[in-house]
Amino acid sequence: MSQAITSVLHEDRVFEPSDAFRRRNRTVHCPDMATYRALYRRSMDDPEGFWAEMASHYHWFRQWNKVLEWECPDAQWFVGARTNVAFNCIDRQIVAGLGDQVAIIWEGEPTTTDPDGHEIRRLTYSDLKREVCRFANALKSLGVGRGDVVTLYMGMVPELAIAMLACARIGAAHSVIFGGFAASAIVDRVEDAKSSIIVTCDGAWRRGHVVPLKASVDEACARTTLIRHVVCLKRCDNAIGWTSGRDLWWHEICATQSDDCPCEEMESEDLLFLLYTSGSTGKPKGVRHTTGGYMVFTATTARYTYNLVPGEGQVYFCTADIGWITGHSYVVYGILPNRVPTVMYEGAPNFPQEDRFWEMVERHKITHFYTAPTAIRAFMKWGDEHPKKHDLSSLIVLGTVGEPINPEAWIWYHETIGGSRCPIVDTMWQTETGGHIITPLPGCTPTVPGSCTLPVFGIDAAIVNERGEELPPNQGGLLVIRRPWPGMLRGIHGDRERYLETYWSKVPGMYVAGDGARRDERGYFWIMGRIDDVINVSGHRLGTMEIESALVSHPAVVEAAVVGIPHEIKGTGIAAFVTLAPTHTGATNDAFRRELCDHVTKEIGAIARPDMIRFAGALPKTRSGKIMRRLLRDIAAGKESMQDTTTLEDFSLLAQLRESDE
Ligand code: PRX
Repeated sequence: MSQAITSVLHEDRVFEPSDAFRRRNRTVHCPDMATYRALYRRSMDDPEGFWAEMASHYHWFRQWNKVLEWECPDAQWFVGARTNVAFNCIDRQIVAGLGDQVAIIWEGEPTTTDPDGHEIRRLTYSDLKREVCRFANALKSLGVGRGDVVTLYMGMVPELAIAMLACARIGAAHSVIFGGFAASAIVDRVEDAKSSIIVTCDGAWRRGHVVPLKASVDEACARTTLIRHVVCLKRCDNAIGWTSGRDLWWHEICATQSDDCPCEEMESEDLLFLLYTSGSTGKPKGVRHTTGGYMVFTATTARYTYNLVPGEGQVYFCTADIGWITGHSYVVYGILPNRVPTVMYEGAPNFPQEDRFWEMVERHKITHFYTAPTAIRAFMKWGDEHPKKHDLSSLIVLGTVGEPINPEAWIWYHETIGGSRCPIVDTMWQTETGGHIITPLPGCTPTVPGSCTLPVFGIDAAIVNERGEELPPNQGGLLVIRRPWPGMLRGIHGDRERYLETYWSKVPGMYVAGDGARRDERGYFWIMGRIDDVINVSGHRLGTMEIESALVSHPAVVEAAVVGIPHEIKGTGIAAFVTLAPTHTGATNDAFRRELCDHVTKEIGAIARPDMIRFAGALPKTRSGKIMRRLLRDIAAGKESMQDTTTLEDFSLLAQLRESDE
């Protein structure tokens, strides 16, 4: 098992729910630990009754005849029921007379001369319905219908959420690709999903520059024959290439569409979306999420984890890009049904200034702020003067996600952003889980910096060994979930074997998350890191093999091994060990390192850009030919004194030494 599992973080500070929080919230869904325990117990003793009750908050065209059908590892939730996720995100609010309330608040990046300083759009549920219906009708006019997969490769503009909801409305599934990925990532995903329509933007604003999204789509289209149409939203007005017949402007195809588009009545288990995520082997896998269970799970977890209450002036802001699961579940799908405005922003947290988020908190009177530890560490580095310039008194709940949070960052977040009065919810979950699986509940769970605390209702989480036996407190083991939950993935698109192998083969009958963890004496969970060849860079999952393949596709590279290294801001940085072809006679200097880094950026995207490249005559391997990653991790982290000009002899010697140790 990975080294990470043996590291034990000691943290004894306990933060009880504050009276300030209780005073600020008229309604607390789960006001104390006794209520939590009773609800959790009920969700374990009678999961079907529990989830039926949660599901009853939402609209169903037809009721289920069975809550759960479970034949491990295949779950069906709300069997026989029909619903539509877009209806529950939008129409249900309009039916309830709330059509004039704000659903989405959006801020663009470019600064303007108006008093707010930024372009701001506020879409009510009625506005959202009109825009979604128009785009849904436009998609239909292009022949898109139930069961088709529409690829969305856009910046953070409201039209991204509109496009997702339009797909959901007409029963098409979407596959959102993060705008930071390169053309080859688009090709892989389009081909895997057999998607023939891409929705994109001419460009996206980021730190004053235009990210040329349409150009990447054009490059992708040149490498696959699948794409029939590219729908392009004009955002930056930058010069773009145009293929007539194939390319269509968003505003033109929507201009003549009706504002009304009935919702398709979807089966509960119909595909809602695919979202590609990195695994330890091969190309990213298309995680499948379906309609009813995902909807109920994300809306329920959002309601409890953030204590969302409509009509109490709450404004919720999750800083994640919609290209990741956090954006799917907790910018869009889990928040809109809760009738609390969700904030979206375009750009970066440090542009035009490092106080962008704090300015937004003050301007929109944001009550809920949800971000990643990597961002918190960056805020700390940028300095307290940025948050101090702004009135952050509207905040009532803070959240983090994506990686374990170091206690120092937790305390800073608590004091400097939360004014020591806001509970912090450290939410542990994954693309595959659909929503939170372990998290404190605000106003209820005492928190300990660095621990994601206790399982969500219905989540039978445990720490076990490879035989599935539960381990005693503080012993590191595998994090598993022992029974199905509504938001769980329903498979990997087109790859049954990989689904079985990745999640269900390590401990029979249990979902293995891929993380090492322990539970302390209180039963609190402490996540210790991935146990596979996945690294978590700035809270984003990357497969080391993907980066290795990208490096090897450079003509000068023969072999590459990628490992994670501790990184002050990113949590984990990327170190690559590279052996070069004998034909490469050029220098192995910084310029060449940059060339290789640029190559990875071009192949995958900037998030996969290595932080360190070392050249070696050979890579250290075990006798069976496996790369000795642990050794490389130590070397990269500086635990062995090695120079950048490591030679074949150094490596093989070290490798042999280590091998004889094991
Ligand atoms: O290792 C865990 C880490 O992120 C992984 C999931 O990554 P992804 O599917 O990209 O989703 C990220 C956002 C939900 C997990 O296997 N992780 C996520 N949240 C936490 C975390 N590790 C520790 N604490 C967390 N709160």
